[in-house]
Amino acid sequence: MYDAGKVIVGLLVFLCLITFPVWYNVGSGKGDFKPDLQLGTQEKECVAPKLQIRASHMQLLDTWRDTVVREGPRLYRTWNGKTFEMSLTKTCLRCHSKKEKFCDECHSYAGVEPNCWNCHVIPKETQ
Ligand code: HEC
Ligand code: HEC
Ligand code: HEC
Repeated sequence: MYDAGKVIVGLLVFLCLITFPVWYNVGSGKGDFKPDLQLGTQEKECVAPKLQIRASHMQLLDTWRDTVVREGPRLYRTWNGKTFEMSLTKTCLRCHSKKEKFCDECHSYAGVEPNCWNCHVIPKETQ
């Protein structure tokens, strides 16, 4: 026979443990902790407005890759009329020259590990 009481207590303890980071942050007033990002550039604008690039740079990179691989090198025209080569290393990492302090910093905070660097070379300056 299972002891329903013990199971429930066990579940509650488990829930407390896995949600610890959430209520710990709330309790300690650190709930608004944000990763410390270094843009790595003096430029003022990204290839898309800030909130848009923050939310959807993955889709943009996918589109760039598909366009380049299927149709050859292409230029990307931004919302404010600038043009950039569609390239992960030559464009994104030229401005965001400190990959570790920017891409990696946010990704480890968000728990994401893009596999891009298995193939794409990280430019020297950014290591
Ligand atoms: C011309 C330089 C430049 C290029 C090229 C560039 N960025 Fe940016 N990026 C910036 C700047 C400047 C900001 C900060 C914008 C702001 O504060 O309004 C930024 C912001 C961002 C942010 C949001 C950061 C935050 O605080 O939320 C992300 C994510 C990002 N860029 C990713 C990329 C990716 C991915 C690429 C390539 C597809 C790229 N950037 C290309 C200059 C650049
Ligand atoms: C402000 C935070 C932030 C910054 C800065 C940032 N990313 Fe991201 N990135 C994320 C988040 C969050 C996800 C996961 C989003 C999702 O899965 O919908 C992600 C996902 C990705 C993915 C897709 C990964 C996958 O496996 O599907 C790629 C590729 C990527 N980021 C590239 C970059 C590059 C390159 C830079 C630096 C130029 C960068 N990101 C900077 C927050 C950030
Ligand atoms: C298995 C190896 C491999 C992986 C993993 C990989 N790529 Fe690529 N990628 C390539 C190859 C090969 C090309 C074509 C090379 C070229 O034409 O310059 C390419 C081209 C691209 C391009 C256009 C050309 C350029 O200079 O950037 C983008 C953008 C791109 N990939 C983004 C990504 C992103 C984002 C990720 C991670 C989510 C990723 N790739 C993961 C192999 C890979």
